[in-house]
Amino acid sequence: RLTVKEILENNEKYLNKVIEIEGWIKNSRASKNYGFIELTDGSSFESLQVVYDDKLPNFSEIEKYTLSSSLKIEGEIVESPGAKQPIELQAQSIEAICISDKDYPLQKKRHTMEYLRTIAHLRGRTNTFNAVFRVRSLIAFAIHKYFQDRGFVYVHTPIITASDAEGAGEMFNVTTLDLKNVPLEDGEVDYKKDFFGKETNLTVSGQLEAEAFALAFGDVYTFGPTFRAENSNTPRHAAEFWMIEPEMAFVDLEENMDVAEEMLKYIIEYVLENAKYEMEFFNKFIDKELLSRLDNVVNSEFARITYTEAIKLLEDSKHDFKYPVHWGVDLQTEHERYITEQIFKKPVFVTDYPKDIKAFYMTENEDGKTVAAMDLLVPGVGEIIGGSQREHRLEVLKDRILANGMEPESYDWYLDLRKYGSVVHSGFGLGFERAVMYITGMSNIRDVIPFPRTVGSAEF
Ligand code: 4AD
Ligand code: MG
Repeated sequence: RLTVKEILENNEKYLNKVIEIEGWIKNSRASKNYGFIELTDGSSFESLQVVYDDKLPNFSEIEKYTLSSSLKIEGEIVESPGAKQPIELQAQSIEAICISDKDYPLQKKRHTMEYLRTIAHLRGRTNTFNAVFRVRSLIAFAIHKYFQDRGFVYVHTPIITASDAEGAGEMFNVTTLDLKNVPLEDGEVDYKKDFFGKETNLTVSGQLEAEAFALAFGDVYTFGPTFRAENSNTPRHAAEFWMIEPEMAFVDLEENMDVAEEMLKYIIEYVLENAKYEMEFFNKFIDKELLSRLDNVVNSEFARITYTEAIKLLEDSKHDFKYPVHWGVDLQTEHERYITEQIFKKPVFVTDYPKDIKAFYMTENEDGKTVAAMDLLVPGVGEIIGGSQREHRLEVLKDRILANGMEPESYDWYLDLRKYGSVVHSGFGLGFERAVMYITGMSNIRDVIPFPRTVGSAEF
């Protein structure tokens, strides 16, 4: 099948040739004797300009075809007199495959993001969402490429798990709907909180299983869906999101940050190079500072400060925060954004958080108060990466599990990793949607997920 992408990228090859192509009307306008159609077939962010005139027997019908009608067009590729494109398709026949109903919801005017969320099944046809989901796909590819090129093994960690990887209790339970055995009253259903007799959850993170593989393969990464039952109705939280989690044996916290910084710069450069039109579109219509900001990220060295230093900077700023800061509190988005947007104006790693506000598996530092954690904060988004050096000492880890009120028996296999050839190892989690937001300039997580699941919404 000949595509718009193929023609636009090789226009000299098709010049003066007669071709046949199928696609949808992205836009159209007509005057008395001729008309223009912007034709898209989805293969390219750009459309193909089609010109037709009243020599076509159905001329007067074509100009009435609604947006998004599907067409089959035959014609000659000719040089375009217009400045916008080097070539255009001079139609010799235009045949309608399916004319869209008059109530097609995407009309020529601008629609709000809120409205477009209610038609998630159609919004991929708009320029904005077409660009977002093309770039989302490209970022996924760039991430795989980064790790595969460096010898990391991709490990598929389970979605249904019996352990709480973050120890935060924010999990969706897996339940069985038993309709077979029970005579049900009207509207009643029988839920069993089990997975073949065992209580299980949807995973919050693939980290623990990735650690098992890092201790067998050295460098590994996961890239899959994760689920959080936290009741956070914000532009940055989803109940279902994707996470990239590299895990590396013989790697400490400093080297862990080196990898995070190099990876983020790599994917930004990859997207800037391979999605030029989409990135220019975002810069023009979504965020006018996007390209200069990303350029600054690629060419700057990320700042690295400790949590204790961060608290001091926030206190010294005398800024009136909604949540006051002092040593011991968890950083809120407003604090994170203040640090990265107002103080440093570039990405900032914050390390060595108080152990009481971080997960059980992080290496306890010598001060007895902090752990070898790192969060990467970026302008516009806040926390984009969370990672740490893992506690590799068996006894210390056991104590941390108990201190967190968790059951060591449930983590037997995880403790085994500290019994048999334990080594210093580290890793991090990059929130995939937060990375997409950061790179596209989109400001709501609901607008970078094809069919978002967030607090109070799972309509599709
Ligand atoms: O900081 P988090 O909770 O860290 C972990 O899950 C570790 N197990 C990662 C690791 O060390 N392997 O989550 C990591 C990242 C966050 O920085 C954020 O970008 C993203 O995942 N994230 C969310 N993204 C969207 N919606 C949510 N509800 C998110 N929760 C975390
Ligand atoms: Mg975190």
